[in-house]
Amino acid sequence: MVTAVAHTNIALIKYWGKRDANLIIPYTGSLSLTLDQFYTETSVNFDQNLDRDEVSIDDQSAANNSWQRVHDFLEIVREKSGAHLNAKVVSRNHVPTAAGLASSASAFAALAAAASKAAGMNLNNQELSRLARRGSGSACRSIFGGFVEWQRGTDDADSYAVPIDTPHLSDIRVVALTIEKHQKPISSRRGMALSVTTSPYYPTWVKVVESDLQSIKSAINQDDFTRFGTISELNAMRMHALTLSSDPDFLYFNGSTLDAMNEVKRLRHSGIECYYTIDAGPNVKVICQTKNVKEITTTFSKLFGPDKVIVAQPGPGIKYL
Ligand code: ADP
Ligand code: DP6
Repeated sequence: MVTAVAHTNIALIKYWGKRDANLIIPYTGSLSLTLDQFYTETSVNFDQNLDRDEVSIDDQSAANNSWQRVHDFLEIVREKSGAHLNAKVVSRNHVPTAAGLASSASAFAALAAAASKAAGMNLNNQELSRLARRGSGSACRSIFGGFVEWQRGTDDADSYAVPIDTPHLSDIRVVALTIEKHQKPISSRRGMALSVTTSPYYPTWVKVVESDLQSIKSAINQDDFTRFGTISELNAMRMHALTLSSDPDFLYFNGSTLDAMNEVKRLRHSGIECYYTIDAGPNVKVICQTKNVKEITTTFSKLFGPDKVIVAQPGPGIKYL
């Protein structure tokens, strides 16, 4: 049995759209920060006594769709490794209970690491990133710690994540506001497919992400937090504009999301520098520096309750236990 731990990541330049849905090759690159507070621990054991793959997530037998997704992924591992046995998978998401932060990113990064090793493959991190990508695109970035870029590539061999090795912006913090704990009505997978096929702005998104990526990388290089935060916030809003311009249109925000966004802007105008980013759900992540964490957590604790406010810092890459 092999056990692996992967931390989740928050995209600052978002991945939103696949050019190849089977291999999960994206239209654009993306860039993320791995977070220390949220992670998945997964054990895999290939066992000749099993009639089918067995999957438990958070001590419960996986629901049909989740089982299928893990099974499909194990099929890829069996095909690549030559292993033919069924597997027992035991996985736990270490996030505050039902906080709406469970992520396919940490889940499939941990599964890729544990399953490939249990199947006798000895993959390096680049190969692991390519494999994790097949489970969920954002998972390819969770193989690495800190700032990570997913280089889009054009095929299975050259689409993988690379760590950005930098001493800069190391005092960055992400204050996660866990506004909503329910599962989102439209998965990222379905949402991005709808945007690719129906939003008239999709071709513009592809162009703009290229320049957003260049700008954020140069902001990191120059240790320029203001530019870093500004581009992150803009890129997130550009992604959400794709949901509003899809047919049918959809929106991941709720009323509390808007309250949080307004509060971030108010704080910023009052001299507390912070920016928001939002993934495919209503929860808001506030990007800031250590010096402002206290003021920001106090403000949002008053607004949503202290149990909804979690402070994260840069987290590590994949680990085996
Ligand atoms: P998120 O924004 O949280 O990544 P997704 O809709 O992309 O949301 O992914 C959630 C899906 O990921 C779940 O429905 C489930 O199929 C899968 N998943 C979540 N946690 C695990 C886990 N620990 N092991 C395997 N699959 C998981
Ligand atoms: C908004 O990686 O969950 O979080 O590849 O279909 O599994 P699939 O999608 P997923 O999408 C993540 C979307 C996002 C942006 C990001 O993480 O880059």
